[in-house]
Amino acid sequence: MDKLTCLIVAAGIMVPCSALSQTTVSLDTDNTTLVLETVSGKAPGILYYGSSFDSAVAAATLASAGFKSSPAYPAFGLSGEVEPAVSITQADGNRTLDLRVIAVEESDWEGGRTLVITSRDSYYPVTVRNCFRSFSREDVIETWAEIVNGNTSSRKSPGTIVLNRYMSGTLPLRVGNVWTTTQYGSWGDESRLVCEPLTRGIRMVKNVDGVRNSQTSRGEVMISLDGKPREDSGRVIGAALEWGGNYQLEFRCANSDYASFLAGVCPDNAEYYLEAGETFRTPALAYSFSDEGLSGVSRNFHRWGRKWRMRHGDVERKVLLNSWEGVYLDVSEPAMDNMMADIASMGGELFVMDDGWFGGKYARKKDNSGLGDWFPDREKLPHGLGWLVRQAGSHGVDFGIWIEPEMTNSLSELYEAHPDWVLHAANRTPVYTRGGTQLVLDMSNPAVQDFVFSVVDNIVSDNPGITYIKWDANMTMMEYGSLYLKHQSHLAVEYWRGLESTLDRIRAKYPDLTIQTCASGGGRANWGVLPWFDEFWVSDNTDALQRIFIQWGSSYFFPAIAMASHISVVPNHQVHRTTSLKFRCDVAMSGRLGMEIQPADMTQWEKDFCRGAIADYKRIRPIVQFGDIYRLVSPYDGLGVASLMYVAQDKSRAAFYWWRLENLYDSRYPRVRMRGLDPDRQYRVSELNRIDKRPMACEGKSFSGRFLMENGIEIAPVVHDVEGMPKSDWASRVLLLESE
Ligand code: DGJ
Repeated sequence: MDKLTCLIVAAGIMVPCSALSQTTVSLDTDNTTLVLETVSGKAPGILYYGSSFDSAVAAATLASAGFKSSPAYPAFGLSGEVEPAVSITQADGNRTLDLRVIAVEESDWEGGRTLVITSRDSYYPVTVRNCFRSFSREDVIETWAEIVNGNTSSRKSPGTIVLNRYMSGTLPLRVGNVWTTTQYGSWGDESRLVCEPLTRGIRMVKNVDGVRNSQTSRGEVMISLDGKPREDSGRVIGAALEWGGNYQLEFRCANSDYASFLAGVCPDNAEYYLEAGETFRTPALAYSFSDEGLSGVSRNFHRWGRKWRMRHGDVERKVLLNSWEGVYLDVSEPAMDNMMADIASMGGELFVMDDGWFGGKYARKKDNSGLGDWFPDREKLPHGLGWLVRQAGSHGVDFGIWIEPEMTNSLSELYEAHPDWVLHAANRTPVYTRGGTQLVLDMSNPAVQDFVFSVVDNIVSDNPGITYIKWDANMTMMEYGSLYLKHQSHLAVEYWRGLESTLDRIRAKYPDLTIQTCASGGGRANWGVLPWFDEFWVSDNTDALQRIFIQWGSSYFFPAIAMASHISVVPNHQVHRTTSLKFRCDVAMSGRLGMEIQPADMTQWEKDFCRGAIADYKRIRPIVQFGDIYRLVSPYDGLGVASLMYVAQDKSRAAFYWWRLENLYDSRYPRVRMRGLDPDRQYRVSELNRIDKRPMACEGKSFSGRFLMENGIEIAPVVHDVEGMPKSDWASRVLLLESE
């Protein structure tokens, strides 16, 4: 066995150092520490992850305190009943892997440090690099694995090996009173929180949709280490897989002090053939620790995401009108033109023409035709896209457009020309879903990748005035088959790799485009896709009441700037509920505000109200989009209200939201204590989107941050009192706090 080599890389230069005696290595962020065990000739381990302490004494302190190491990347075959992170069939059929540490490398990067632990199999020519990268200021650590088929020192020459499992990473959890909060939703009810104690046994969260990996269960989890989750206290680890494809999160809790958490690509039907000399790199798993409860972890993820992991995380998003719920597929020049004029008159900045604008021979009159034929339907749009872009300009708004480039219909010119471009299992009849004709294109095929690139390229290069794209994806991989790939089990991975490299090309050519990811609503809300996208459509459910729940769950890992949240018509198209316009505005303006409505059907009063709401939103937009979130009262707690606030990074301003969820006579709503303010500053309070005849008692008054955080203010009255308007179930308040 090689001796352990420790390489310290300073300013990009590798400095080998003798480290035979070094058995641990630490990775720090500003407030957290990860301690790994790296004993030469043994498998790598994890000793500690939590609040920071002196790395120099870490190993001794942990040993004295009786902390035990757990496998950092457990391998299948030689250690009995462990849940493996990696499982390989060697070229000769042997199913075991025996990883032993041979080197540790450390280096600085712009945002923190990286650490690579290299292990080799003791016999077979397999090398695994477990990589860790810290984001110091955001208290986030990423980990991923690089599995190499080959090493120079092995006595065996490499042949093709099969990766049966190739998870991204694992974390040991000291059992006790540990709770997990995962999310399981459905279309129209995304991000539903599922909170439960970690009990003995194996618990799995996975998604095998292939295309929309966050429609149902989500690839993120909050792990509360000190009992039932609380928003503002207790130690919490949040973990999010940076992957848009199928995934699996696993908790394994046997009869021992430590449970293990693993996350990575879902291994179902995804064994990967790795040829000699090839390297497989897993997606990264990002995790963050905070002792400020769930909201603390959310703030870390939001800051990290805005700075490092999403597109344009430091650029304010525009207020837009999307045409979908307004006209559905009945796109026409007059309808689009009127909508543009209307959103401009309400203070909006962007108009997005949704589905229904394209197609020739198979024009998109219904949802069963035209996908793939990305040129304007000349019946609906006789003057083409250029005319619409110019009209938008004349109204003073930007123009955006909907596409669904990974899909086609059997009723399309694209499918007629390239029937072999779709996902299809040989010898089977095609399986269709939406419209009875929709099919998924095979993104693993380079010819399809070129086509998808050309969809965006043609539209935007022909119409440089288009500044926004809504990129939709409305179908599951129904048929697990590729007419291009040699190994069918590679499909779930290669689809995503193909999509990612296509998105790379698009972003290289169009870095400034704003692109929304949408997948039948919130089906693509994940940190795997956001590097190429500016935001996601949270849900097709635009009902304000249910949106409070959906957006609450989404905010666990995603910042408000990424969450498209639109004011829509009542009765709501999905749940048929009638809420007040004030309530709808106050919910939508807690995310990236937009409208999803036919303005032609609005009264003048409604338009005026929305104009006011948009103007008020612009006052708080930097706080909402770049501030820190503090979730105050959860809608899941059954207290009849929900409340949260955003606080500007310098704590000079804050936006406070309060929504009444139930109207029960004699209900007692809690007075909400605020969070995140500077205790020693005075904050002047003013209500936004005010509708009531009389102002609240706090209007224009100042309070210390300490008072607001210790006591809060009464939200009264809880029923809006508006001249000439019947009282309703729905009440909400948005308060702006400005320090003096
Ligand atoms: C699903 C999306 O979620 C909707 O917003 C809309 O764009 C439709 N697709 C259009 O077909």
